Amino acid sequence: MSRTILILPGDGIGPEIIAEAEKVLNTLAKEHGLDIVMEHGLIGGAAIDARGTPMPEVTLHKAKASDAVLLGAVGGPKWESVERSLRPERGLLAIRSGLNLYANLRPAILYGELADASTLKADVISGLNIMIVRELTGDIYFGEPRGIRTAGDGLREGFNTMIYHESEIERITHMAFIVARKRNGRVCSVDKANVLESNELWREVVTRVAGEYPDVTLRHMYVDNAAMQLVRDPRQFDVIVTTNMFGDILSDLAAMLTGSIGMLPSASLNKNGKGIYEPIHGSAPDIAGQDKANPLATILSVAMMMRYSLNEPGLADRIECAVKHVLAEGFRTTDIYTKGMRKVGTREMGDAVVKALGK
Ligand code: IPM
Ligand code: MG
Repeated sequence: MSRTILILPGDGIGPEIIAEAEKVLNTLAKEHGLDIVMEHGLIGGAAIDARGTPMPEVTLHKAKASDAVLLGAVGGPKWESVERSLRPERGLLAIRSGLNLYANLRPAILYGELADASTLKADVISGLNIMIVRELTGDIYFGEPRGIRTAGDGLREGFNTMIYHESEIERITHMAFIVARKRNGRVCSVDKANVLESNELWREVVTRVAGEYPDVTLRHMYVDNAAMQLVRDPRQFDVIVTTNMFGDILSDLAAMLTGSIGMLPSASLNKNGKGIYEPIHGSAPDIAGQDKANPLATILSVAMMMRYSLNEPGLADRIECAVKHVLAEGFRTTDIYTKGMRKVGTREMGDAVVKALGK
């Protein structure tokens, strides 16, 4: 039975990187027995322009009806003056929350060939393999009340609510421990429990749930220390489980350890294993339309889709091997370019991966 994949290119470099990922999907369908139907939809700024809203009902409807969603990126300066509740980013948050995608898996893996592309010394990062498990539908991102209001003195004040329900902490903790069991069995929970009540509860609940996984070790770390440790000695981490906002920040940091934010895929999953797959980087409007963007994070997101939603681990391996192969052959987009390598654009990188799929 064929599976439906909804493709949401979004804004900025989104359409370019998605086009390369589609080449990969088409090749898997034509040559490697993948039975899929691809549908397309609008999200973010593209949806604002066409429909007046960053998350049209029809997109959410199609997303719910499909087996997996592949997303490019949203946002850009063009929509910065749009009313806050209608910004492109709200479209992304709406689809995450509309599909209940509470678990965001962001693996930070260093490909040996890219050790020199990182700003960190090769001996600090070689062999790096961290999985960040970010809670994705709670915290200050969604907490109410929120807004900008006039304070008593006539000046304005902005406010948000950082809030976590016990059940939200429980389910993301279970996810982290299940993931850790398939890896090296170590979880580090990152919070700011020394200052924030919501994080005090986070720590308490994580500790309780950890009791159900005696084979996995748990430690806790404050987020400021975690940021420092990630740069100082990143290989001490196996799985990091953290809140929505801290996960957003630490995953960008972890991305740079691997050489470029253009390399990191992600999966956002609900309890049924349905998910959105997207690169963790943004829409990079400054390089949009110039054939410069690195499509590998999006292509690696397709691999995660094969593994987590479509139950095609063999095809996931095939894609990941193809990416390793092109890196070994020296293909580099600008963001990961080092001297002596072969500088290529978005399309040429995508073509090289497609070619390597057959190897
Ligand atoms: C991410 C992005 C998003 C987030 C933005 C675009 C809303 O930074 O996926 O990390 O903050 O979650
Ligand atoms: Mg982010």
